[in-house]
Amino acid sequence: MSDLKIGVIVGSLSSTSINRKLAEAMKKLAPEGVSFTDISIDLPIYRQDFDADYPAEGRALKEAIEGADAILIVTPEYNRSIPGGLKNAIDWASRPWGQNSFKEKPVGVIGTSPSGIGAAIGQNALRPVLGFLNVAQFNAIEVYLNFKDGLIDDNHDITNDGTKAFLAGYMKDFVAFAGHHKG
Ligand SMILES: Cc1cc2nc3c(=O)[nH]c(=O)nc-3n(C[C@H](O)[C@H](O)[C@H](O)COP(=O)(O)O)c2cc1C
Repeated sequence: MSDLKIGVIVGSLSSTSINRKLAEAMKKLAPEGVSFTDISIDLPIYRQDFDADYPAEGRALKEAIEGADAILIVTPEYNRSIPGGLKNAIDWASRPWGQNSFKEKPVGVIGTSPSGIGAAIGQNALRPVLGFLNVAQFNAIEVYLNFKDGLIDDNHDITNDGTKAFLAGYMKDFVAFAGHHKG
């Protein structure tokens, strides 16, 4: 497969984010030929007034998404949904009207939580939002990862062999899916 550029969006702004750790671990599990760009969601709250003259940070976000072949979203669950910061970034990327940067973009959603359900409800709150934005959603493997201390070490390696193989399988299939859409 030809080289593939994946933009990574972490749904947490926490300096100690376990989802950031998972994102870094996923990069290390990717097949050959894949490169990654981190896409920041540290943005002011979107408002429609911006549409007439889109601010630089909004344009930078849109360009980063549009420039990637696929997007991997790694998100926590906040109050049984997604964090407001992630939704805000998606709102930025969806506008101005008619200029939805996510259109037809292959997108994978994964996440982790210290709770047993592994951010499942948050991820599933995100899916209809992405559906409305007409992304090509990768649904074949779901990653609801129950985070435990030591699961990801300081080098961002997964310490559990079964989990590591499962997540490597996710990356293999997601990259194949994205490559198929890239053509
Ligand atoms: C505002 C807030 C709401 C949360 N709601 C949930 C929740 O609904 N389900 C859950 O499993 N964990 C919830 N948590 C706990 C998070 O899963 C935990 O803080 C996790 O570390 C967040 O991911 P991060 O470290 O990548 O920021 C919540 C945490 C915060 C700060």
